[in-house]
Amino acid sequence: MLSWILGLVVLLLGGLLLRQRRRHRQTLTDLARAIERRVPYLSEEPPPRPGRAASPWTSLTGEVNRLIDDYGQLHTRQAGQLSQLEATLGNLQEAVLIVDRFNYILLVNKALRRIIPGVRTILGQRVEGVLQGTEILEALEEVRQRGGLPQREIELRHARPPVWMEITGTKLSEPQADNGPWVLLVLHDISRLKRLESVRKEFVANVSHELKTPLSVIKGYVETLVDDHATMRPADREKFLGILQRHTNRLTSLLEDLLTLSRLESRDPRVTLQPEDLGAFVRSLAEEHALQIMEPHRRIQLDVPGEPFPVLIDPLRISQVYSNLLDNALKYTPASASIEIGLRRADGEVHSWVRDSGPGIPEADLPHIFERFYRVDKGRSRETGGTGLGLSIVKHIVQLHHGRVWAESRPGEGCRIAFALPLAKEAAAAGAAAPAAAAGSAPAGPGAGES
Ligand SMILES: Nc1ncnc2c1ncn2[C@@H]1O[C@H](COP(=O)(O)OP(=O)(O)O)[C@@H](O)[C@H]1O
Ligand SMILES: [Mg+2]
Repeated sequence: MLSWILGLVVLLLGGLLLRQRRRHRQTLTDLARAIERRVPYLSEEPPPRPGRAASPWTSLTGEVNRLIDDYGQLHTRQAGQLSQLEATLGNLQEAVLIVDRFNYILLVNKALRRIIPGVRTILGQRVEGVLQGTEILEALEEVRQRGGLPQREIELRHARPPVWMEITGTKLSEPQADNGPWVLLVLHDISRLKRLESVRKEFVANVSHELKTPLSVIKGYVETLVDDHATMRPADREKFLGILQRHTNRLTSLLEDLLTLSRLESRDPRVTLQPEDLGAFVRSLAEEHALQIMEPHRRIQLDVPGEPFPVLIDPLRISQVYSNLLDNALKYTPASASIEIGLRRADGEVHSWVRDSGPGIPEADLPHIFERFYRVDKGRSRETGGTGLGLSIVKHIVQLHHGRVWAESRPGEGCRIAFALPLAKEAAAAGAAAPAAAAGSAPAGPGAGES
């Protein structure tokens, strides 16, 4: 009997213990959930009666609720501070990044989102997972150790497109959070400056190279003439002087083209626009050029309709455009090739071109021929006295007239270098004089100077 009662008591106690353990396990799960969701845990246990000590479980849930409440307040404060910062920094042109002590990203502004695709989804991620490269991490570390960061340049290679940024940073003393101090980085896009810098460097290198060759030739021949002029045969002396003259001319044209370019690129390019009829202008220009061409059988064909082509141009500059284009057409085509100047109206613009039936320009070179010093065949260009700046000057002049230039070519079938100028509506309304002559050709005759 006794053993039966004992067995019953053990069974009851066991059942009670099991229920309590299950309840405690459930309480722990609920607590974990409450912490995760940051909402207070509502205990099922009644509050302790007055004068009675609370059970350990009640104390634990009370403590957890207090912590959740503290955390909630801190979180709200931080969110408030972040949204204040976002309101201040959001529209800045500079890209801004704020991270906490553990490098978790707290804020990125619009400018940074524009640079790094997908950056919108990075809040709450660690910097190293989003901004590749060690430079940003090094910058953050330096700010933490020294309180600030002297300006430095970094390249964000994974941005689309890759960008160069000037970066500065500071430690934010507020808020005094357990994930603080926060670090603020400001990134200023200097890609344009970098590009300009590299264009400038390339330009200086090109100019030095172009100057070096004729100068070293001149130096060599001048030294020979100085040392040996007394004993030198007159024929040699004449030959050497001829070479000196050629290279001096080359230097002169190079400097002239460089000065023209630098004037065109300056703040005051001195372009004075006046109303002209481009048809009449082209006709008289073709005649002038025809007189200057040394090759007697060369003709410049005109494809210029009789209608008026009212434009606002600086006549000197636009005649330089045609000069450079005709010069190329003559230089890079055999004497048998034809050369044509054309003119048409198209969508409120006047399109004009110089076309030749020479060897043409390879497709791969076409996008580059308006760049400074770009030549398809360097040797050929230098041989004919080319500076590699002619088409670049053409482009600048046309752009100063609010126009655009382009080139078309099929290798072996010649090329067409064209430009578009806006039609001058006022000039058209004022009834610019219509030229009498229709499309035709100007004969090329022997002349005094080279074209
Ligand atoms: N009509 C043309 N036919 C073939 N190639 C041309 C023609 N016009 C220009 N080019 C190519 O474009 C390059 C750039 O022309 P340009 O800027 O006038 O420099 P340059 O004539 O001094 O070499 C030339 O070197 C030449 O290779
Ligand atoms: Mg040229």
